[in-house]
Amino acid sequence: MTDFDGKKAIVLGGTSGIGLATAEMLRDGGAEVIVGSRRECELDGMECVQVDVLDRDGLAVLFEKHAGFDYLVNAATGGPRAIGPFLDMDLDGFQGSFAKLWGYTNSVRLGAPHMAANGAVLLYSGYPARKWRSGTIAIGTVGGAVEAFIRLVANEISPIRINGVCPGLIDTPMSPLEGEARDNYYRDGTAAHLIPRAGTAGEVASAGIFVLANEFVTGTIVDVDGGALAT
Ligand SMILES: NC(=O)c1ccc[n+]([C@@H]2O[C@H](COP(=O)([O-])OP(=O)(O)OC[C@H]3O[C@@H](n4cnc5c(N)ncnc54)[C@H](OP(=O)(O)O)[C@@H]3O)[C@@H](O)[C@H]2O)c1
Repeated sequence: MTDFDGKKAIVLGGTSGIGLATAEMLRDGGAEVIVGSRRECELDGMECVQVDVLDRDGLAVLFEKHAGFDYLVNAATGGPRAIGPFLDMDLDGFQGSFAKLWGYTNSVRLGAPHMAANGAVLLYSGYPARKWRSGTIAIGTVGGAVEAFIRLVANEISPIRINGVCPGLIDTPMSPLEGEARDNYYRDGTAAHLIPRAGTAGEVASAGIFVLANEFVTGTIVDVDGGALAT
């Protein structure tokens, strides 16, 4: 287990799925963890804060309160995402899908000035950014912007590090499907991958822990996708 003793982490979108798994690994490594999302929550050994990543004033208050914090993680989906082919796309929905990018950029812009100089930022993108898959044009475009942002802003926030982890198809509460429909969705969606199953939130979060802890890694994206990009 990575030792995060004495470190303080803010994990936005940390109440579910990949963000929650990341928060729990930081906590288990000894970090003080503040978890933020829009819902009320109670999480073992972590402080919960109700905050919307689109609410800049709310974010500013959070970051000022914890000034000097070491790690900023953002896994917040931001809001509803548009699904479907581009030529049938509702353009308001397409534009709305960028809430994820605005939540991420809000948090880095407002959070980085309050971070420790040897701190690190972690954002989660998503494999549709680099591999077309039916219906994912909106989230793929957003993911591409997230990855470009990470590589570019790394130059401006240095010595604070920033990295991304790019998940493949991961079994999290993001999918509302249940039972057989859920099983079929993940089976069919990963059938062509080198590792033909959905990933777990923990498998993705462990890569997040790697880029937070490794002080020689910045401006890069780590793929955790069961070989989805290799096919
Ligand atoms: N699961 C996958 O297959 C997959 C694949 C590729 C990429 N990803 C990416 O990985 C990240 C995590 O996904 P996940 O599967 O773990 O999703 P999830 O289980 O649905 O969790 C999303 C989290 O984001 C929070 N959130 C959403 N909008 C927010 C807002 N406006 N302000 C604050 N918090 C907000 C949610 O809490 P509240 O609702 O309480 O706000 C929740 O904690 C996302 O960026 C997603 O795009 C996931």
